[in-house]
Amino acid sequence: MYNAKAYAAASATSPMAPSTIPRRDPTEHDVQIEILFCGVCHSDLHTVRDEWSSFWPTAYPCVPGHEIVGRVAKVGSAVTKFKPGDLAAVGCLVDSDRTCPECQAGLEQFCPNMTLTYNFPDKHIGGVTYGGYSDSVVVDERFVLKVPANLDLAGAAPLLCAGVTTYSPMRHWGVTKGKKVGVVGLGGLGHMGVKFAHALGAHVVVFTTSPHKKEDALRLGADEVVVSRNTDEMQKQSDSFDFILDAVSADHDINTFINLLRRDGNLTMVGAPEKPLPVSVFGLIFRRRSFSGSPIGGIRETQEMLDFCGAHNITADVEVIPIQKVNEAYDRLLKADVKYRFSIDMASLKSE
Ligand SMILES: NC(=O)c1ccc[n+]([C@@H]2O[C@H](COP(=O)([O-])OP(=O)(O)OC[C@H]3O[C@@H](n4cnc5c(N)ncnc54)[C@H](OP(=O)(O)O)[C@@H]3O)[C@@H](O)[C@H]2O)c1
Ligand SMILES: [Zn+2]
Ligand SMILES: [Zn+2]
Repeated sequence: MYNAKAYAAASATSPMAPSTIPRRDPTEHDVQIEILFCGVCHSDLHTVRDEWSSFWPTAYPCVPGHEIVGRVAKVGSAVTKFKPGDLAAVGCLVDSDRTCPECQAGLEQFCPNMTLTYNFPDKHIGGVTYGGYSDSVVVDERFVLKVPANLDLAGAAPLLCAGVTTYSPMRHWGVTKGKKVGVVGLGGLGHMGVKFAHALGAHVVVFTTSPHKKEDALRLGADEVVVSRNTDEMQKQSDSFDFILDAVSADHDINTFINLLRRDGNLTMVGAPEKPLPVSVFGLIFRRRSFSGSPIGGIRETQEMLDFCGAHNITADVEVIPIQKVNEAYDRLLKADVKYRFSIDMASLKSE
């Protein structure tokens, strides 16, 4: 084992602060990565503050971060996909059993024995896994992704969660040319959803509570922007959507969006607010609409998404911050004040 530098929260009410964590020495199938950038996902904030305690309680100290890009520092003797010096990326998953039907289908995000990148039992050294707010990480090569060489690294990091979490349901629900697609909430996930829906050829409508984001939404690829607190504007969109992706992190009225779906339309939640959302079944029944959810994506699809981003030159719009500003970044996330993802320059951790 060796010590890595990290930023950790000591409790649900503590700020993130400098810390040292143990990492395993790479075993034969492992890749040790020097982390260059790590995106700040709203899930990091939910976890650090233990907002999902009833479903997935947080163990402390907690080191979040699952949007990791870096350079390979060392590889184990059996590693074939990577060599020292290569670019490498890690998302939300670092292991699974590889044998269950979900794993065999390339859908490790549904594996009953998966290991998430942070706050999950660590099978190698005990305790829980520690994420990417750190100077290095050690991951089995099967869960390490290749980053297309043409992508800016700070902007590529958020693809590992915000990217695949929005790409995967769009592929699953058949977002293509000719489809009308809504994206609710223009944050980290939402702005990636807009870019993907646009690149897939759909007619894209953004729903935002922040009128000042209108110009940005159009620049990111939206065809229309609706301020969701404006009832008249919402009314005009009734019964018209094939698919709506909801990426909102907080409590909101889901029924107003379900009512915008056409017959057989689907609304998928990727946003994971702390409290349950009441759903009016009549909104579903009378148009045979469906309401579902979607978690991240498997390794195969994550690589497919990265390659798609390479081919279409898609990255996240990022505000690069030093790790010392991560607490401020969390406060700004709660005010929907991010354009549109914070990406931590991990070189800043060297001075701690
Ligand atoms: N399913 C998964 O696998 C998965 C993966 C990653 C993240 N998530 C979850 O997805 C959610 C979004 O994550 P993120 O990182 O994109 O967060 P984010 O960057 O903070 O964006 C959330 C956006 O939601 C909107 N919003 C915030 N509060 C709102 C409210 N009270 N009412 C209506 N809209 C509100 C805002 O957009 P506007 O200003 O445009 O209104 C905000 O920018 C989080 O809950 C996160 O945990 C889920
Ligand atoms: Zn995430
Ligand atoms: Zn499995």
